[in-house]
Amino acid sequence: MLDLILRDAVTPDGARVDIACKDGRIAEIAAKIDAEAGEVIEAGGYLVTPPFVDSHFHMDATLSFGLPRVNESGTLLEGIALWGELKPQLTIEALKERAHELCRWAIAKGTLAIRSHVDICDKRLLAVDALIEVRKEIKPYINLQLVAFPQDGYLRDPNAAEQLSRALDKGVDVVGGIPHFERTMEEGAQSVRALMAIAGERGLLVDMHCDETDDPNSRHIETLNAETVRHGMQGRVAGSHLTSMHSMDNYYVSKLLPLMKKAGVAAIANPLINITIQGRHDTYPKRRGLTRIKEMLGMGIPLALGHDCVMDPWYSLGSHDMLEVAHMAVHVGQMTGMDEMRAMFDAVTTGAAAILHLDGYGLDAGCQADFLVLQAHSPVEAIRLRPARLYVIRRGKLIATTPPVASQLDLDGKQHSVDFTRTARQ
Ligand code: FE2
Repeated sequence: MLDLILRDAVTPDGARVDIACKDGRIAEIAAKIDAEAGEVIEAGGYLVTPPFVDSHFHMDATLSFGLPRVNESGTLLEGIALWGELKPQLTIEALKERAHELCRWAIAKGTLAIRSHVDICDKRLLAVDALIEVRKEIKPYINLQLVAFPQDGYLRDPNAAEQLSRALDKGVDVVGGIPHFERTMEEGAQSVRALMAIAGERGLLVDMHCDETDDPNSRHIETLNAETVRHGMQGRVAGSHLTSMHSMDNYYVSKLLPLMKKAGVAAIANPLINITIQGRHDTYPKRRGLTRIKEMLGMGIPLALGHDCVMDPWYSLGSHDMLEVAHMAVHVGQMTGMDEMRAMFDAVTTGAAAILHLDGYGLDAGCQADFLVLQAHSPVEAIRLRPARLYVIRRGKLIATTPPVASQLDLDGKQHSVDFTRTARQ
């Protein structure tokens, strides 16, 4: 007997299907499955999708809003100063408690894979130890990937090189970096070369905060592309943020993007954070600061979107909802074409899963039985409504439910039920 059957759901491609699960995997996906199962869930024609994937997050800082004080200006620089004030006060218990709370929020919103950067510029490596424990404890529910992130600069912080190496020895998964924060452009490039060599030797994936600045001359992405080719690491490297590209000369970008495509370097944009943090020194016109996602997609450069922050020194808002991220990308990136909106949905699901090298991700037979049902009928409607995650299924088991949203109106004695979905027009 099957463990679970989901009946009458619509896939992101518009197919009406049943999904059968056995031993944690999708046993069959077909128009109609006649079989018995321990649990049957009626999707009622709503959208089923593989889980959301957050490809860029900072779990060591999350939910620390107000500790030790709030970011009054909302700027990046006050955020970095605030994080510096908070770091000495961190404890493993508090870090874990906040991380687990965030993971529960993520599960409720249907996000079952998160790549989190973890700051290694603390001699105690408390956050590394805490998040390695969380990664193990949360594994039944969330794939948590950790990136060794030298927040204070790999070369600028005299202890970062040794600590990054210790963090990787402890089992952190991915090599990070922050070349634009090094003291000079040359040292930024040098840090990229050093970190790529480490990743090459250890056989690890790379994800660097890269050119997260409004400076059009911040061009570490070109070094990242070149080093990726030199080490033969195509498909294993991501540049996060890449906001300087928004300000770069168009001619230079026309050379840069084909090199990025050839190197197989992925882009991870963080629209919620970059629309609030970039362009702060501008008067008007004011730059949006999001990297060139439209042009990247046009060229077939792998793209994912990350949440980056939730209630931390840099961003006081958020509930860890990847549909909010996609919604913001649609607006800031002017991605309002139907295919473009659909691409933004992919950037928080399948596109992100590919960049993270997630194993068994998808809605095909043989994949992990991880999926969710949304109170919407299509990816575009999901972005429009950011609707209730009706059912969240992990390894063939129902792990979270949210009741459908419906408002009841009484207008001059006439009753109306409103749920905001509009199938016919989508
Ligand atoms: Fe970040």
